[in-house]
Amino acid sequence: MPDAYILGIESSCDETAAAVVRSGEQVISNVVLSQISTHRPYGGVVPELASREHLRAIIPVVRTALAEADKTYETVDAIAVTRGPGLAGALLVGISFAKALAYALDKPLIAVNHLEGHIHAVLLEERQKGNRELHFPVLALVVSGGHTHLYLAEQSGQGWTYQNIGHTRDDAAGEAFDKVAKLLGLGYPGGPIINQLAGHGDPTAVKFAFAQIKHRDRKEATDVARPPSAGTARHFDFSFSGIKTAVLRYVETHPMQRAIDVRRAGLAGIPKPSADDVMRLCDRHTLDLVASFQNAVVGDLVEKTLAAARKYDAATLFVTGGVAANSELRRRFEEQAAQEGLPVFFPSRPLSTDNAAMIAAAAYPKFLRGDFAEAELSAEAGLRLR
Ligand code: KG4
Ligand code: ZN
Repeated sequence: MPDAYILGIESSCDETAAAVVRSGEQVISNVVLSQISTHRPYGGVVPELASREHLRAIIPVVRTALAEADKTYETVDAIAVTRGPGLAGALLVGISFAKALAYALDKPLIAVNHLEGHIHAVLLEERQKGNRELHFPVLALVVSGGHTHLYLAEQSGQGWTYQNIGHTRDDAAGEAFDKVAKLLGLGYPGGPIINQLAGHGDPTAVKFAFAQIKHRDRKEATDVARPPSAGTARHFDFSFSGIKTAVLRYVETHPMQRAIDVRRAGLAGIPKPSADDVMRLCDRHTLDLVASFQNAVVGDLVEKTLAAARKYDAATLFVTGGVAANSELRRRFEEQAAQEGLPVFFPSRPLSTDNAAMIAAAAYPKFLRGDFAEAELSAEAGLRLR
């Protein structure tokens, strides 16, 4: 099989990204333009601003990815683009551009599910390291700003299939990091900053009882389309809106609001606050609260994922998505999965958060199968993975 160079394009949320990947196993270039500074004043992603920024960035980002890979539009073999899930207007920018390119160049167009992309970020990097032996079943935790989903992933021939065995019933884990950071006046996005601050606080200072927040396990009604074992399978659902409310209650019942207001005003005057800038504006009480919050979220993610791994007899664990960049999450998964003899793999940090290399990698099996997008391809904001 000759090498195939796929140009990937990703624009589902607040990163405009393009990458060239060789045969699903080597990143040749990977360009990510973050819109964080555009959305920072609003404390979250503003969908219309995201679309506008994608429109501005898409051509230069794609050109840079090609130039860095020493490729041209003519010398790539296919174009891959994120179909969903994500913000409809943002997705459409990448899709419209990819469609126009594929049509003008007469190259195959491949539509990729963003969540499948996060899973393939792990596969891509393991192949790049020379690790080709993968034991099934693979359990993948996709944990990001929009998702906290558990999938059993199987490879059949050139293709991949996914069975969702759990998901968040309300907020995603990354969303909880972002919302808690916002309410504590720590800035945006919350995940990386809480990750840095938590190392300076006491994770046992505030007790967050996840047991009170947890829902009972969901039992899926038997679905005739599925095998009986899957139809009655136990689900491992998450819920992170409760802990966000618990942090809010804590702030309301302790004298913290003045310090939060001072911090918010202080950070508003700094265009790109560093972790040190935020640190200087944090007292011990805040650091302890942040460390305790992270400890509770990480504990819940690790505990439920490992329970699911035991239940489904997983042979390999993948942890991927923006929150997989969290150092405490990595440490705890590594420690606890090792105790159970379960190999756990993460993408490198640049491939944990949104990028287009993962989209080009996930497109490769589809390229081999000739699974190309139809001419009417459009954005699917709520696209599911199966
Ligand atoms: O995968 P991603 O880039 O975009 C989505 O598909 O959502 O994930 C972004 C999310 C944000 O909520 C961000 O706060 C979180 O990932 N995040 C982190 C860390 N880095 C990014 N959360 C915890 N710790 C981190 N180090
Ligand atoms: Zn993502």
